[in-house]
Amino acid sequence: MHLASRESLSGAAKIIAQQKESTKYKTAHLDTYSHDGLNQPKNTYEETFAPFISTSFLEIIQGMKTEGKSTHVLDLFGGGYFLENLDPIDSLTAIRLCNIDAELIRRGTFIFLACRSSDEEELVSKRQAHLRNFRDSKKRSVLTGNLYLNSTWAELRKHMEEKCIGSFDLIVCRPQVAFRNKFFLDRVIPLEAYDIIFAKLFKRATTQLSKSGILFTQVPEYVELQQLQQLKEEYEATGFDILIEYSNAEGQSGYILKVTRIKHVSIRP
Ligand SMILES: C[S@@+](CC[C@H](N)C(=O)[O-])C[C@H]1O[C@@H](n2cnc3c(N)ncnc32)[C@H](O)[C@@H]1O
Repeated sequence: MHLASRESLSGAAKIIAQQKESTKYKTAHLDTYSHDGLNQPKNTYEETFAPFISTSFLEIIQGMKTEGKSTHVLDLFGGGYFLENLDPIDSLTAIRLCNIDAELIRRGTFIFLACRSSDEEELVSKRQAHLRNFRDSKKRSVLTGNLYLNSTWAELRKHMEEKCIGSFDLIVCRPQVAFRNKFFLDRVIPLEAYDIIFAKLFKRATTQLSKSGILFTQVPEYVELQQLQQLKEEYEATGFDILIEYSNAEGQSGYILKVTRIKHVSIRP
């Protein structure tokens, strides 16, 4: 992943360095939550990754559990809300710019006030109860930070040590608009720099993937198939299996990837 010119590479490095100085990532202005994985029709994680899965993420996790595997889940650029419940999950770690649990619960209240029909009231109070369960669960942790900075990944490794999480069995990365040009890093960057930034993010994520783990990720719009094919070849040479699909579900565009580690079978003499 090297089609970017020297200038765009140093441009991307400069932008990331500037972010270290910036405190605005601590504010909510980039933290869009209008459709944050709250499994609404047409916007579920399952729909986004439909080319790869025919079941729900929860069922995939339940399957891992049945096989006696661990079930540590990582949601990059999200709050982990895409899971209906945390019963079969050993741990859920979510990383995003801000923790919006309180805001989502408050919004539920707002919807409750705005809607008068009894069905809607019931729906809202169910949603609030679900969110409160999530907020209070000891299995779930929300880390806040900028995923383009080393410090956030160092924070993740510290968290993994504290919680005895060796690696993650399911990693999901659905930033949606956060990957679009206007939002990505909060400024317009040279299009070629997307390859480098995505490649680094991808490397960091796959480093935390367990031997039989699965990773699903959206890809920034400006990363092209040619670059993804090159990434696929590089990673497959080191024991990963990568499927690439173009996702054209409503409101979404660009590529998505499914990544698994190929299980190595050792043959005894
Ligand atoms: C549109 S929401 C998508 C949320 C959720 N993943 C979903 O698909 O419903 C964009 C998310 O990206 C997060 N985000 C944007 N830029 C980020 C960054 N540089 N580092 C970490 N999280 C970021 C925001 O905090 C927000 O959670």
